[in-house]
Amino acid sequence: MTLFESTVRPVLFRLGGGDAEAAHEFTLHRLAGLPAPARSLMRARYATSAPVEAFGVRFPNAVGLAAGMDKNGIALPAWPALGFGFVEVGTVTAKAQPGNDKPRLFRLRGSEAIINRMGFNNAGAAALATRLAALGPIGVPLGVSLGKSKVTPLEEAVEDYLTSHRLLHPYADYIAVNVSSPNTPGLRSLQDKSAIADLLKALVGPKPVLVKIAPDLTEPAIAELLEVCLSHGAAGVIATNTTLSRDGLAQSDQPRATEAGGLSGRPLTEKARKVVHFVHTETGGRLPIIGVGGIMEPDDAARLLDAGASLVQLYSGFIYRGPALVRAAAKAAANHQAASAR
Ligand SMILES: Cc1cc2nc3c(=O)[nH]c(=O)nc-3n(C[C@H](O)[C@H](O)[C@H](O)COP(=O)(O)O)c2cc1C
Repeated sequence: MTLFESTVRPVLFRLGGGDAEAAHEFTLHRLAGLPAPARSLMRARYATSAPVEAFGVRFPNAVGLAAGMDKNGIALPAWPALGFGFVEVGTVTAKAQPGNDKPRLFRLRGSEAIINRMGFNNAGAAALATRLAALGPIGVPLGVSLGKSKVTPLEEAVEDYLTSHRLLHPYADYIAVNVSSPNTPGLRSLQDKSAIADLLKALVGPKPVLVKIAPDLTEPAIAELLEVCLSHGAAGVIATNTTLSRDGLAQSDQPRATEAGGLSGRPLTEKARKVVHFVHTETGGRLPIIGVGGIMEPDDAARLLDAGASLVQLYSGFIYRGPALVRAAAKAAANHQAASAR
């Protein structure tokens, strides 16, 4: 057991009477307030140098922070200090919005899982653009995840994404098009062939555009989407978002299983790996993949890379394992790279 698991995690998990969002907000604000010398010390402990290149961008290591952790980019300088080789901020929407009613974030500890129905709570694309302009580069590549504002009808989705894109692409090393969150009504229908084609026509341009997909799509639906990605200039695919499935939960978590929202963490590990493998084989490796879903151990990262991912991201694993997992996963990725180069 690491120091994080034996001392830090129990305190965080008790905050706010065990409310997961209270712990999230507390941690984010503490990280945002870290002074530069503290970040330097953390960097010395956690940062791993194992450069990788994907879709024309050079990454200091292959392990990134997944979207949703720092939606408004308030703690950006802290993430590279915790060892992340890239950071995906957002998902942000053109219009600021409060998200769904609380509670909307639940830990399922027996399963090392999380259910969330946050609903893209965020301060809006303009606020993020202002923050990024003031902050300047953070030392590792920055992805910006875009979603649709809840009040915008699906027929106007392209214009909504474009508004955010115009404001934010100057600060991004890549753009993630999130069409796979289960928590905005109708959003996942944007994964359909013609909708994703329209989105890519509008957004593909100065910065690499990656499409983030749901793990619940059928293989024929993924194959169709990949064709569109290839023919419309997408730079890659992020696989996967959270799942609507409740398979693989421990008995102790059954009462929580009925909460609406997307499930992440350990129950997603195998499912995400299968989707990454399918995307890789279906495209013959022509579309770079960021693999995400259920990386709880360094080996889980290595297996996603084995399945065809060029980079990986984590969210739930960071909640349960802390920064030691980032470092260990980056080292596992470096070993994987060295072995494939042989
Ligand atoms: C609380 C929470 C909020 C999330 N918000 C977003 C989001 O805004 N945009 C997005 O693309 N993915 C979001 N995700 C999904 C993660 O980026 C990731 O795809 C998913 O959790 C699977 O990875 P994991 O098993 O390592 O958590 C969120 C996940 C969680 C747990």
